[in-house]
Amino acid sequence: MSRRIAVILNGRPESLEVEDYETLLHVLREKLKLFGAREGCGQGVCGACTVLLDGQPVSSCLMLAPLAEGRSSLLDERPEASDDEIREYLAGNLCRCTGYVKILEAAREVAARLRAGTGTR
Ligand code: FES
Repeated sequence: MSRRIAVILNGRPESLEVEDYETLLHVLREKLKLFGAREGCGQGVCGACTVLLDGQPVSSCLMLAPLAEGRSSLLDERPEASDDEIREYLAGNLCRCTGYVKILEAAREVAARLRAGTGTR
């Protein structure tokens, strides 16, 4: 069964049609073409799919998309978040690629765009 959900995605309200069985990761990548969250293990272990949901890191490969109804992200709530705060929120992510450098750069860029009101896509 499909349903329509409302979310705040990178600071912007979105209305999405999702299937009950779809993961949040699948919807982000395949329907919204947002490729920042990646599929690694697909089992909630590696952290490659981590997204911030109401300020808390979650494995989007394990979360069903309908459960994102009405939720948003850290930078939507706190566009002035410091690097230390961003690192704290990402504590469950096991990045082996860059030591979190690229992740922090991406978070800073999204925060700057949110403050400037220029959008995040
Ligand atoms: S893909 Fe590894 S935790 Fe989700």
